[in-house]
Amino acid sequence: MERISISLPEKLLEEFDRILKEKGYVSRSEGIRDAIRNYIIEHGIISQVSGEIAGTISIIYDHDESNVLDKLTDAQHDFAEVIDSSLHIHLDKHHCLEVIVVRGDSNAIKQLLNRLTAIKGVKYAKLTTNVAEIPE
Ligand code: NI
Repeated sequence: MERISISLPEKLLEEFDRILKEKGYVSRSEGIRDAIRNYIIEHGIISQVSGEIAGTISIIYDHDESNVLDKLTDAQHDFAEVIDSSLHIHLDKHHCLEVIVVRGDSNAIKQLLNRLTAIKGVKYAKLTTNVAEIPE
């Protein structure tokens, strides 16, 4: 095993510890290992999606982070051909939830997801799709 040390915001760690307690974990390291495994599995599932799909990308971001709105808008204009519509909800003083309805080429949609995920200030980004190619 490798040992790593990471820096986390206090509130994020508190919330993580609360979940570990609720789930009955006795070791924080084991909780982090499982969380990383889930992250890898989820990436694997998304990377297997192919063909024409329809779904939603949900993102939560801090609108006070510098340039986040410009970057989100630029990304959505660049991928306009796979975006049907979007919905914006002001969650609290700083956070916004945006649900983007996507339809079209899965590769373009995955590129859009990656682009949105990488924007600083975006704290959560998830693609939900159950629709691969619709059977005749
Ligand atoms: Ni907002």
